[in-house]
Amino acid sequence: MNLAIFASGNGSNFSAIVKAIRQSRIKAKLVILVCDRPRAFVVKRAKKEKVRVVLVRREDFVSRADFEMAIIQRLRSYKIDLIALAGFMRMLSPSFVRRYRKRILNIHPSLLPAFKGSHAIKDAIDHKASFTGVTVHFVDEQMDHGPVILQERIKIRSNDTLSLLEKRIHALEHRMYPRVIELFCSGRIKYPKRPGI
Ligand code: GAR
Repeated sequence: MNLAIFASGNGSNFSAIVKAIRQSRIKAKLVILVCDRPRAFVVKRAKKEKVRVVLVRREDFVSRADFEMAIIQRLRSYKIDLIALAGFMRMLSPSFVRRYRKRILNIHPSLLPAFKGSHAIKDAIDHKASFTGVTVHFVDEQMDHGPVILQERIKIRSNDTLSLLEKRIHALEHRMYPRVIELFCSGRIKYPKRPGI
């Protein structure tokens, strides 16, 4: 199974997945990192791990369709079977999702459908929620949406700060995402026949 990770930022999930592959917990080959931000720390991580980096900046293309076509061409040439979004802060178009339907995973730092978007951890604190968590799901045409594969809950403590909660959420993500990818790669997770949500 040929895997591509899409990421835009720090890349701690990228590293957790790389580690699981190196330890043979995930039976997949990480073929490329697709990144839309050349200065993102994840690019450094990929270079250190000798993972090929495909840099695609949206500004270099006239339209989103052209931008995505450039990505699709690389996915095709590297025969990618599975895409794991790991902090890729860009919505994929419905036509991209249809092309790779059932083969795109995403991780999100909340119990979806609560707190979608790019500030989910802060939003949970601001809303004085008692719990939040992490969701791994198949991607559909909507943002942070699609059939849920795994969710785990985390209690928000009264003395939690953003950075304390972020730490616990990331630690949970680094356990959950490799596990889900491992299950997918060994054929134990399939896109549901009737997605429901
Ligand atoms: C992760 O917390 C991931 O759940 C989140 O971005 C972070 C990336 O961290 N994704 C989203 O918010 C998607 N809507 P990382 O770069 O250290 O892996």
